[in-house]
This record gives sequence, C-alpha cells and structure tokens, in this order.
Amino acid sequence: MNSFLSIFRLFFLSSLCLIMFNSVTCSLTVHCNEKDTNILLKFKQRLTDPSELLSSWFPNSDCCEWRGVTCDNITGRVSELSLPCDTIPSQITALGEIDDKSHCLSGELNLSLLKLEYLNYLDLSNNDFKFLQFNSMGSGGNSTNLHYLDLSLNYDIVVHNLHWISNLSSLQYLNLGGVHIHKEIDWLQSVTLLPSLLELHLRDCQLETMYPFLQYANFTSLQVLNLAHNDLVSELPSWLFNLSCHISHINLFNNQIHGELPQAFPNLRSIKSLVFSKNYLKGPLPNWLGQLEQLQRLYLSYNYFSGPIPSCLGNLSSLIELVLNSNQLNGNLSKDLGQLLNLESLLLAENSLTGTVSERNLLSFSNLKVLSLNSPTLVFDFDPEWTPPYQLQAVEFGNVRDKLPEWLFTQSSLKDLVIVDSTASFEPLEKFWNFSKQLDNFYLVNNTINGDISNVLLSPKIVWLVSNNLRGGMPRLSAEVIVLCLYNNSLSGPISPLLCNKMSNKSNLIHFDMGYNHLSGDLTDCWNDWKSLVHVDLGYNNLTGKIPHSMSSLSNLRFLYLESNNLFGEVPVSLKNCQNLWILDIGHNNFSGDIPNWLPQSLKGLKLRSNQFSGKIPTQLCQLHSLMVMDFASNGLSGAIPNCLHNITAMLSSDASTRKVGFVINLPSLKTEISCTITMLIKGNELEYFNLMNVIDLSNNNLSGSVPLEMYMLTGIQSLNLSHNMLSGTIPKEIDNLEPLESFDLSRNLFSGEIPQTMSSLHYLEVLNLSFNNFMGKIPSGTQLGSSNLSYIGNSGLCGPPLSKICPQDEKSHNTNPREEEEEGNEYEVHSWFYMGLGIGFAVGFWGVLGTIFFNRRCRHAYFRFLHRTYDFAMRKMNFM
Ligand SMILES: *[C@@H]1O[C@H](CO)[C@@H](O)[C@H](O)[C@H]1NC(C)=O
Ligand SMILES: *[C@@H]1O[C@H](CO)[C@@H](O)[C@H](O)[C@H]1NC(C)=O
Ligand SMILES: *[C@@H]1O[C@H](CO)[C@@H](O)[C@H](O)[C@H]1NC(C)=O
Ligand SMILES: *[C@@H]1O[C@H](CO)[C@@H](O)[C@H](O)[C@H]1NC(C)=O
Ligand SMILES: *[C@@H]1O[C@H](CO)[C@@H](O)[C@H](O)[C@H]1NC(C)=O
Ligand SMILES: *[C@@H]1O[C@H](CO)[C@@H](O)[C@H](O)[C@H]1NC(C)=O
Ligand SMILES: *[C@@H]1O[C@H](CO)[C@@H](O)[C@H](O)[C@H]1NC(C)=O
Ligand SMILES: *[C@@H]1O[C@H](CO)[C@@H](O)[C@H](O)[C@H]1NC(C)=O
Ligand SMILES: *[C@@H]1O[C@H](CO)[C@@H](O)[C@H](O)[C@H]1NC(C)=O
Ligand SMILES: *[C@@H]1O[C@H](CO)[C@@H](O)[C@H](O)[C@H]1NC(C)=O
Repeated sequence: MNSFLSIFRLFFLSSLCLIMFNSVTCSLTVHCNEKDTNILLKFKQRLTDPSELLSSWFPNSDCCEWRGVTCDNITGRVSELSLPCDTIPSQITALGEIDDKSHCLSGELNLSLLKLEYLNYLDLSNNDFKFLQFNSMGSGGNSTNLHYLDLSLNYDIVVHNLHWISNLSSLQYLNLGGVHIHKEIDWLQSVTLLPSLLELHLRDCQLETMYPFLQYANFTSLQVLNLAHNDLVSELPSWLFNLSCHISHINLFNNQIHGELPQAFPNLRSIKSLVFSKNYLKGPLPNWLGQLEQLQRLYLSYNYFSGPIPSCLGNLSSLIELVLNSNQLNGNLSKDLGQLLNLESLLLAENSLTGTVSERNLLSFSNLKVLSLNSPTLVFDFDPEWTPPYQLQAVEFGNVRDKLPEWLFTQSSLKDLVIVDSTASFEPLEKFWNFSKQLDNFYLVNNTINGDISNVLLSPKIVWLVSNNLRGGMPRLSAEVIVLCLYNNSLSGPISPLLCNKMSNKSNLIHFDMGYNHLSGDLTDCWNDWKSLVHVDLGYNNLTGKIPHSMSSLSNLRFLYLESNNLFGEVPVSLKNCQNLWILDIGHNNFSGDIPNWLPQSLKGLKLRSNQFSGKIPTQLCQLHSLMVMDFASNGLSGAIPNCLHNITAMLSSDASTRKVGFVINLPSLKTEISCTITMLIKGNELEYFNLMNVIDLSNNNLSGSVPLEMYMLTGIQSLNLSHNMLSGTIPKEIDNLEPLESFDLSRNLFSGEIPQTMSSLHYLEVLNLSFNNFMGKIPSGTQLGSSNLSYIGNSGLCGPPLSKICPQDEKSHNTNPREEEEEGNEYEVHSWFYMGLGIGFAVGFWGVLGTIFFNRRCRHAYFRFLHRTYDFAMRKMNFM
C-alpha cells in the first residue's frame, strides 16, 4: 500500500513537472543543494543496484529530478526519499517463501543518509539490504525533521543497536517490520523516547522480551502499536495498560504472551480495537471490557481464556466484531449479546459453551455477516420455519447433531460454508449439493454424510470435502473449481469419468486430491486437459498400471503423490518436463528400473521407498541442490553410495525457512494457503510432518563398499539410516560434523573399527543403532551413547557400559560382573529392528517440536482459512498488516 502510494506520488509529481515544463513557470524550478547531492551519491556508491533503478542518479545533474527524490520547492533541499521495491508474487509460491527480490536494492544501507538535514520522509522498504550502517552518524545525524521512517521487509538486516532512533525527535511513523531486532534488548527504551510517535510497527522482528517490569511507557500520542509475529514470552506488561488515552488500536496478534488480562480497568477509554489473538492468555474475561464504550473490534481468539462470556459484553454498543473462538470459554450463550445491534461478526467456535442455541439468540442481529458456532456441548435447536433477519456471507457450524438448521438454506448471499465434526443428517442431499452451487468456498470436514457423490456437479472455487465418508464414483466439476480435495472418503471406481470428460471451458484446477479412497483402474491418459495442476495426490488408493505419458504435460506440477498404490513400470523420462516438481512420492508401489537420473533441479523431496528399483544410485542426484528428503529404502539398489552427496546444498544446513510442504495460490480473485504434510519414517515411526527434515534413508538395499567421507560433511542432516545393507568401513571421527543428527542407524551391516569418541558430542542424537556389525573396542562415554545396550548388541568386539562386558583395560579396577554371561546369552533374542529413545541426556532436536501427527487430513486449508480471512480483513482495515 505504501509503495503504491509513493509510486502514485512519484507519478503525480513527474506529470506535474511535465506540465510545468510546457509552461513558463518551469524557469522557477529550484536546483538541488550540493551538500545533499553528495550525501546521496555516497549512499548510492555503497549499495548494489542490480536493475539500475538509480541510473538517473549521476553527478552534475539536479538531484531533485532523481528517481525517488523529492525536494522542497522553495529551498531546494531534499525532503523525501522514497525507494520501496515493487515485488510481484508469482501465481504459486512455496509456503514461507518471500517474493523474488533480485531486482531490488541490496548491499549496505548506510544511514549517513540521515545527514540530509531537511529530510522528513524516508521509505526504503521491501528492498534486499543486507547491512545497516549507522555508527558513522554520531553528531552528524541531524535529521530532526524526519517524520516518517520505513525500513520494513528488509529481512536480512540485523539491528544490534537502536539508540540512534531516539535522536529522530520528530518521528511520527516508524516501521521496522521484518528487520531482526532481537539483538537489541533495549528496543523499548529507545522508542519510548520519541515524543511524537503515532505509529510503531515492529511486526515480525523476532522480539523476545516485552519488559514486564517497565512501569510506564511514555507513548504520549501513540495510536498504533503492532508487535504481531514476534517471540515475546512474558506476562502482559503493565506498561501496556498504562498507555495514554489517545491510543485507539492495540494489536498483539500471534505473539507468545502469557498471563492474564488485569482485573483493574486500564486506561483505554477510547480504544477501538483490541487484538490479542494467538497468545497464551488465560483466566476469565474481565468485566471492564464492558466499559470500553468505543470498542468496535475485540479479538481474543486462540488463547486459553476460560469461564463464561460476561454478560457485560452486551453493553458494547459499538461492537462490530466479537472474535472469541478457540478458547476454553464455557457456560451458556449470554442473552445479553443480543443487544449488540451493530454486530457483523460473531465467532465463538471451539469453546466449551453449553446449552441450547436457537433463533432467540440471533433474533436481533440484523447486520450479521459472519457467524461461527461450534462446541461439542452446544445443542442447535432452531425452528425450521424461522427466517433470520440477516443474510450471512460466511458461516461455520460444528458438532451439529440431528439436523442442519433449516434457515441455512435461506442464506442466498452465503459464499463461505464450513461444517465440521457433525453427525447431522445432510438429507435431502440433492438440496444440499444444489445449495452449494452459490458458494465460493465449500468446506465439509469430518462429518458423517455417507452420501453418494457420483455425478454431483461441484462448482465452488474451493471444494474441500475431507473425511466425510462420501461414497460412489467421480463427481463432475465446473471449470471454476480451483481446489478439489476429497481426501479420506470412500470413493471407488476409476478416475477417468472425471479426468477424461471434456469440459466446455478450460479447467482452472490447481489442486487435485483424491488420496485415501478406494479408487481403482489406471491413472488415465487424459492429463493433457489439466495443465494448470500444481498438486496431484492419488496416494493410498488401489490404482494400477504405469505412469501415463500425458502426465508429462503437467509443466506446472509441484507435488505428485502416488504412494501406496499398485503402480508399476519405470518412471518415464517424459516426466522430465515437470520441471518445477518439489515433491515426488511414489513409495510403496511396484516401480522398477533405475532411479531416474534426469530429475528436476527444483526437487525437495524424493520418496521411492518400498519399490523394486535396482542398479546404482546415480551421481546426478548430487545436482539436486534443494533436496532434503532422499528416501530409497527397501529397494534393490546396489553398488556404492556416491561420494558427491555433499554437493546437495540443502543438506548442509538445517535452516528452516522454506521447509514447509505447502504452497500459496495468488490469483487476482483469490489468495489462499495450503499446507500439507509428508510422511517420513524417522526414529522408527512413520509420521506426517508439515516441514521437511534433512533425511537420507537408504536402508534395506544391497549397497556395499564404505560410506564416503563426504557423507560426514552433510552438516545439516537430521536422520541418516543406512541399515540392512552390506556396507563396510569405519565411522570416521568427523561424525561430529553432523551436529543436528537426531537419528543414526547403521545396524545390520559390516562396519568395523572403534566407535570414535567424537560421537559423544552429538547432542541431539536421540536414536542410535549400531547393532549387528563388527564394531570393536570400548564404547565412548557420554550421556547420549550410554543409556541402552540395545544400540550395540551383535558386535562381539564391543565392551564397556552400557554393555555388561568389561573392557580388558578396565578389568583390573572392576571385578567381573557375574550376570554378564546371562545377558550376553539373551542379546540375540531381541528383535533387531528396534529404536530406542535414549531418555535423559539428549537435547531436544531442532525439529522435534515441528513434527506433527495428522491422521485424516493430509492438507490443511479448510477451516483455518475462513477465520484467517476474517483476521486479514480486520487488520487490513486497521492498517496493521
Ligand atoms: C510548494 O509546495 C507546497 C506544498 O509542499 C505548496 O503548498 C506550494 O504551493 C508549493 N509552491 C510552489 C511555488 O510550487
Ligand atoms: C557510511 O557512509 C559514509 C559516507 O557517506 C562513510 O564515511 C562511512 O564510513 C560509512 N559507514 C560505514 C559503517 O560504512
Ligand atoms: C544524538 O545527538 C546528540 C546531540 O546531537 C549527539 O551527541 C549523540 O551522539 C547522538 N546520538 C547518536 C546515537 O547518534
Ligand atoms: C544541525 O542543524 C542545526 C539547525 O538545523 C544546525 O545549526 C547545526 O549546525 C546542525 N548540525 C550539524 C552537525 O550539522
Ligand atoms: C512523556 O513525554 C512528554 C512529551 O515528551 C513529556 O512532556 C512528559 O513529561 C513525559 N512523561 C513522563 C512521565 O516521562
Ligand atoms: C501509570 O503508571 C504509573 C506508575 O505505576 C502511575 O503512577 C500512573 O498513575 C499510571 N498512569 C495511568 C494513567 O494509569
Ligand atoms: C451495562 O449497562 C447497564 C445499564 O445499561 C448497567 O446497569 C451495567 O452496570 C452495565 N454493565 C457493565 C459491566 O458495565
Ligand atoms: C470428528 O468428529 C467427531 C464428532 O462428530 C469428534 O468426536 C472427532 O474427534 C472428530 N475427529 C477428528 C479427527 O477431528
Ligand atoms: C485392488 O484391485 C485389485 C485388482 O486390481 C483387486 O483384486 C483388489 O481386491 C483391490 N483391493 C482393494 C482393497 O480394493
Ligand atoms: C560436486 O561439486 C564439485 C565442486 O564443488 C564438482 O567439481 C563436482 O563435479 C560435483 N559433482 C557432481 C556429481 O555434481
């Protein structure tokens, strides 16, 4: 928005200048001050400008005519510098990926710019600056005129010191969003010294502390405070409620604030928006909320608030949005809420509300547009004849028993419909499917519909019908559909009726997910008509046959999941045309032949587990620089492990930025995020993860030779499984390079030699299995290595704890353990395929917390988006994003 405004302003100014040129007044144009020219030229010298945005900035020209520069029309001094970078998101981006900034300004951002004495506006946002230099400023910094400073969205800048900010005494607007400020622990002290500050935006700055002990923050005139998306962990600080009366919005969305809201009435009489969503707040909703007469938006969702919804909220006559979903609120739905005549959004889902909800609770909401009600203990009891006074745009129901509210079908403006976790009857289904035709977003998740969907025409842009026990064959699709997800139902028969049925218009389908059904037949050869597809999931069905030639026409394809079917044959070379592929998961089929050596460079996850691939591992794989998951387990691979795996750069670091298995669809009419999971077998459990880990699994093959030393250069690897092969050689002492390693399995091979002492420095190692090899010597000490003898059994030459066999060199000091013989005898009875969490002693892995078990929903999109959009909407309006 800002960049748009400034571009507009630039455009406006330059056209003004053109008009001036054509008239006599042009002679009045003032020229740039020499001192200012020099400061700007020095600034330019130090930055990198790949697309020559500053080509107009050259010596001996009038700096007032340079790109981005505005001068005072009387003094000729530079008053504004506005060079935000314009970035355009591509239609499909990876979740967590930022827009392409290769054309933006980069390099050093030297704040000696602030020597421009008359500068009052500086916007360098959304560029790609790497360094922020300000130490030269000192007494030279004299920008007492600066009102507006925006350095946001320069994600690589790390600020160590904010003290210089306090010298910018006229500052009214400060935006450092996306800049890392966590190194500066005094950030609040520095900004609180700015007496004129109206807006402070520190969204996503990795702030960790909120100064709970600071008594008073002197933000005399602050109107906007945005601390969203930080890492704040603290109680709600008292200074927050001691801000001056002028504040009208507080937005603390999505932080990690713990504690309760204070019981005393804070000084917030003119507050219009209170946003504390997505924190860790608990306790009851305080009664003083009822006294905030100006309050229009109250967002307390995704916290741990408990107790009833206070009836005093009914006094908030200005309230437009009441968002309390996802807390632990209980009690009945208060009748007093019915006094909120201006209410447009009422979101109460995912609480423990009890009692009955009927037309009596909703009678007076004539402006209601968004309604969400979902509690396991809330009973819906609507008069089937009732016609509501409102026309909703979005509704979410959950835990509906018996019957859907009949009034739903009177809502002819409805665009978003969400129904989850309901056992209600959807009969007559024909009426329901017909009603769905008016929708844009149609989400039914975990309901017991048990209906036949064959030949039903689906037309909403997003159709997300996951885990509903839907039966029958393929539905029909209108060309409008962008997302079709029928994951985890009981659909059967072939997919050809859907894919091979010619539509009158070109399909717009991007996401096609029929995973976890009972589909049979082959993959069809009709993919030529579905070129817009980005995501195809047909995993966990009963499909058979080969990968058809026409699939190679899917040049936009990013995700291809075909795992757990009965597919066979070689992976056709023509698939090379899918040059954008991120995930290829064809595990648990009967594919054969060599591992493809032509795979696209974009690949992040390659799962070939449990097929019949044979031959050597091709060295071309080493050129897949983005590869994070390489799962070739349980095939017939032979030969040596290639010695170039260290060329896979993604395996060298455990940086988390683009590990999410999802994508964002950016269409003019629709922006939506879909985050999916990938199953990975790590630490002995096959689980679904939202983030890719660095995993190499070559277990259960016929690999031989020694493990190349290059394997021990993969400094980002988290799970390495080479078990059940014929590998030999030793573990090199360089094993300690693999610092993030959480799981390491070399069992059932021919490894020999001593276990290096350096291994004990792998602090994240949780699972270690070296059993059934020829290791010898003393097991190194160290908490990680010493807790379980199961990690070492089947190596007759090993000794020392945790094995009971005492090493020869220790024999003198300890007398022989009488139980030794007995335990050794039992060793081989233990099942060889085991994993042991070593309990105490290991640090929690980098990724441990991100792994999530997700049973019947591979992709998450539904359900969350509905609420998200409400947030986004509210925040956009409040200018907080
Ligand atoms: C100079 O700019 C100010 C506002 O910035 C405007 O009011 C004034 O008319 C301008 N003067 C001339 C001579 O253009
Ligand atoms: C910033 O630029 C000035 C010249 O404008 C230079 O003297 C100074 O050394 C630079 N600062 C840093 C830290 O590079
Ligand atoms: C702030 O300004 C004062 C007076 O001009 C100066 O002495 C001081 O060095 C400046 N502080 C910083 C951090 O630039
Ligand atoms: C700062 O500005 C004031 C007046 O605007 C001027 O008197 C002073 O000399 C300036 N200081 C520096 C170091 O440029
Ligand atoms: C807060 O700032 C204002 C303006 O700078 C000042 O007048 C006032 O004394 C300050 N109050 C406190 C308690 O520091
Ligand atoms: C803010 O806190 C200070 C210190 O605790 C207290 O003296 C002052 O009265 C409070 N101001 C308001 C407006 O509550
Ligand atoms: C709500 O308003 C009524 C009168 O309109 C008043 O009696 C009551 O105390 C108010 N409740 C709260 C919590 O402010
Ligand atoms: C599905 O809905 C039922 C209630 O109908 C609920 O008990 C169950 O936990 C839900 N399952 C999932 C996976 O959310
Ligand atoms: C899968 O398909 C085969 C025929 O291709 C059939 O024999 C088998 O019963 C099917 N299995 C299931 C679980 O439907
Ligand atoms: C691996 O990278 C090295 C340079 O770092 C290069 O010489 C070699 O050819 C690469 N190997 C493969 C198989 O890509």
